[in-house]
Amino acid sequence: MISENEMDNISEIVEKSGLKHIAFIMDGNGRWATKRGLPREFGHKAGAETFKKIVRYCRSIGIKTATVYAFSTENIKRPKREVNAIFRLLGEYVEEGKEEKDVEFKFIGAPEELGEDVYKKVTELESVTKGGKSRVNVAFNYGGRAEIVHAVNKLLKDNKTVITEDDISANVYTSDVGDPDLIIRTGNEVRISNFLLWQCAYSELYFSETLWPDFSTDELDKAIMDFSHRSRRWGGLDTKK
Ligand code: IPE
Ligand code: IPE
Ligand code: MG
Repeated sequence: MISENEMDNISEIVEKSGLKHIAFIMDGNGRWATKRGLPREFGHKAGAETFKKIVRYCRSIGIKTATVYAFSTENIKRPKREVNAIFRLLGEYVEEGKEEKDVEFKFIGAPEELGEDVYKKVTELESVTKGGKSRVNVAFNYGGRAEIVHAVNKLLKDNKTVITEDDISANVYTSDVGDPDLIIRTGNEVRISNFLLWQCAYSELYFSETLWPDFSTDELDKAIMDFSHRSRRWGGLDTKK
């Protein structure tokens, strides 16, 4: 835990609190649009702007990895018009993402199941940004249960007969960046909705009532401050007390 007077600025807090990886459940786009009498698609467009602002800010304050939940395996159930609008936005973002400095993008989930158009864009962004210093994982057609099943099937294919926790950790999509320290869900719902089920075992959770398009860097600072005051025990005892 960090005392109040040690906290000069947010980058310092990030460093001192050991916050390396934040995951965002970017929820509330549809309600944001509906509240304004607009079609839900407008909410996704506004949400994409917030995404850009927040991931840039994360990078500027020293967060090594940001993982964002952009489209779940269950979101395909939504009306075709909304789903197509989300895919279109992804395509637009891929073009902009290529211009971002020092970020490596990785898509997690099964974007290959969404047709050649989507998959081509996804792999293009990954290959153009390879080697960037910080990481943005975009969960697209992602489901936490599907991810665990995928990991187990990979292990079975390698002729594994006894599977350990380390094996699964090494075969989930985020194996190279580790588990999120903090998961932030906007949109006033207090649930995980099939996000990072394996990785969230000891993540700190932060729920915000703000709808994602209205989520600000100030609110992110607040969540980070909150995180820095938590005592992470991983089942043990607090060694600092
Ligand atoms: C999150 O916002 C984005 C996606 C799930 C694609 P929603 O679209 O779920 O917005 P609400 O929850 O309906 O307001
Ligand atoms: C979770 O939000 C998925 C994303 C943010 C991409 P949902 O809006 O799909 O979750 P539920 O349906 O409220 O649980
Ligand atoms: Mg929602």
